[in-house]
Formats: sequence, structure tokens, C-alpha cells
Amino acid sequence: MILAVSMIHDFAAVSHRRLSRRDRDSVTFLPDADCDSFLLPRIPLQGIVILTSFVAGVQWAYIHRFGPWRVRKVENMGKVEIYYFSGTGNSLAVARDMAEKLTAKLTPVVSLMDQERINAEADVVGFVFPIYDFKPPSLVEDFVHKMEGIDCKYLFAVCTYGIAPAQSLKHFAKVIESCGGQLSAGFAVGMPHSGIGSGAVTEAQQESMFESWEDRLEEVCDSISSEEAIKIESSNLLSDFFQSRIISMVPSLLKFLKQVLLKGTGSLAFTSSEDCNGCGICERICPMDNVEMVDDRPVWSDNCAGCFACLNWCPKEAISLGGFDANIRHYHHPDVKILEMMGQRERAIATGP
Ligand SMILES: Cc1cc2nc3c(=O)[nH]c(=O)nc-3n(C[C@H](O)[C@H](O)[C@H](O)COP(=O)(O)O)c2cc1C
Ligand code: SF4
Ligand code: SF4
Repeated sequence: MILAVSMIHDFAAVSHRRLSRRDRDSVTFLPDADCDSFLLPRIPLQGIVILTSFVAGVQWAYIHRFGPWRVRKVENMGKVEIYYFSGTGNSLAVARDMAEKLTAKLTPVVSLMDQERINAEADVVGFVFPIYDFKPPSLVEDFVHKMEGIDCKYLFAVCTYGIAPAQSLKHFAKVIESCGGQLSAGFAVGMPHSGIGSGAVTEAQQESMFESWEDRLEEVCDSISSEEAIKIESSNLLSDFFQSRIISMVPSLLKFLKQVLLKGTGSLAFTSSEDCNGCGICERICPMDNVEMVDDRPVWSDNCAGCFACLNWCPKEAISLGGFDANIRHYHHPDVKILEMMGQRERAIATGP
């Protein structure tokens, strides 16, 4: 009996939490008297139910506080799924940290790219991705367009950025809106830059970015586990510009612009130098299957996501943008293994129970 009442109690709490997310505004609540007569049988059962609920509540509190099988709040939430895309491992590291905290299923976006429709099972669905040219990668946007039933889910997004998030998450919110969903939370996480000008970022700066993320992880996951609707993070590019991190990248960005204007974008196509040893890592790590080894040298096709994984993970630092010195420090996230990156096309990583 106590167990049954406890279950009803939990169910009512969960229902309320679900309602409090988005539906609360649109639902008309009945007056209290109506609620009572709806939820509880009429007297004399009412008194018994209240008493047993109280006992169940005390028992529940005791188990969760002192019991050997006490559970953390995040483990109580409905199923969570996180879809990610990553070139140098920053977004994968962030997605993995969150998946562990939220006991979520972690799925690479590229592993589902061939599917026509994508049906997330979880009630809570998140997207973690880098930003390229102040926008989410277009393949992540395409992915959202294929998703079904996102109108009734709690959706969150995390972008990792090397310069500034600008309006990229707000842009992503609009993409989601155009598919009938609503982005309830958007977090921007600063990480080491993986593109042109990354050489300007010092190792000390990289270290402090990792530490900042570690400090934020708990708070971000708490917001998600409470299914909070919070402000989508963004920044103002004009004021961002005066941050020292961006100022230090300006010379290489100007050099890059000059190259594009004088020689065209074709002059910045990927090439490999004589240092290439034919190991084939660039072929295997490319999430788009866009690199093919021909006579022990990489050849690039035109289905590139611009993630710079081939360039950054090359063990010989043999890949460049047409031989142009773009001041790129060959970088990848220190806690992400090359095999994890190579698995993006195939694997769904289950971290949940
Ligand atoms: C081609 C390219 C373009 C990028 N454009 C931006 C940008 O516009 N703004 C920014 O803040 N970071 C930019 N970045 C940096 C990445 O967003 C950042 O390093 C991110 O954390 C990389 O994540 P990943 O390791 O998961 O790929 C760019 C990186 C690349 C390779
Ligand atoms: S990863 Fe580098 S060294 Fe290996 S095949 Fe590609 S270009 Fe050559
Ligand atoms: S070719 Fe290189 S930059 Fe383009 S998608 Fe493949 S790994 Fe990424």
C-alpha cells in the first residue's frame, strides 16, 4: 500500500515537473477543490491516503538520504540523449563529460547521417557541436531537420568555440524552431581554437579553458536535469573583438583574408607535404569520408565539413591549406583518443545504465 501511494506521489511530482517545463503556461489549472476531488477518492479514504503518503514520504527521504542505494538527482531524470559532432575532440570531451553526469546516451551525429528520419527516444535531447564561421556546422543543422517529434521534448545545446560564440546558439534556436521544437537552454563553452590562427593560443590559455569547463560542468548539468528554460548564451562580436585572445589572432586572420582575395579560396585546398608517411590517419579520421589514400598520399574530395580533423590529427603535421602558413598549432583535445574520433561514423556510445 505504502509503495503504491509512494509511486502515485512520484508520478504526480514527475507530471508536475514535465508540466512546469513548457506546458505550464498553456494549461488551465482547475480550482483546488476540483483538483482534490480528481486526485483523491472521497472521504473516508482521503484521510488514509494522506497519512500513508506522509509515511511514504518519510520513508522515501530516509532511503535517499541514508540508504545504500540512494541515488543522485540526475540519475532520476527521464532518458537523456546527446548528439554530438567534433573535429578535434573539444565537443566530444564536453559531450562525454555531460553524458557521464546525466547518464545519457551519446551518439555521433555522423553515425546517423544516412538515415532519412531520426527519432530520438529520450524526453531530453541535447546537441553538442563546435562553431564554424559563427554558426553550427551545417551537417548538425541538416540533422535537426531530419528529427521527428522534437516539439514535445526538452531540448538543449552546447557549442564549443575558439574565438567567441556570437549569435551561433540563437541561430541554432531558430533552426530548431523551424522544425517545430523549442531550444530551452544553450550553453557556450570556450575551448582551444582548432582553425586558422590557433597558434596564437598558448598552452596556459588552453589549460585555463579546460579548468573553466570543469568548474561549469556541474551547474550546466543541474540546469538540464531540472529541465530549466534559461537564456540562450551569446556574445557581441564587437565587444568580443577587444579580448586579447581575438586580438592575437588578427594578424593570421588578415593574412588569410589577403590570400583569399588575391588567390581565391581554391588556393587554400588541403594538401600534404613531403613529411607525409602514408599512415592513412587522415583518411580514417575524416567524419565525412572525404579523404582517400591514393598511392600512399591523401586526396581530398568535395564533401568537406571544414572540421580540420585531418589537419589537426596528422601525426607528421604534414597537412596544410595549400601550403599557406595559417598559424595553426596542431591541436586536439588531450583527453580524447584518436580511436574515439575515428569511431564517429559508426558508434553510439552508451553511458547510461
Ligand atoms: C574551420 C573552422 C572555423 C571556425 N570558426 C570559428 C568561429 O567562427 N568562431 C569561433 O569562436 N571558433 C571557431 N572555430 C573554432 C572551433 O569552434 C573550436 O575550436 C571548437 O571548440 C572545435 O571543436 P571540436 O574540437 O569539437 O571540433 C573554428 C574552427 C574551424 C576548424
Ligand atoms: S595523416 Fe598525415 S602522415 Fe598520415 S597519411 Fe595523412 S597526411 Fe600523411
Ligand atoms: S576533409 Fe578534413 S576538414 Fe574536411 S571533413 Fe574531412 S577531416 Fe574534416
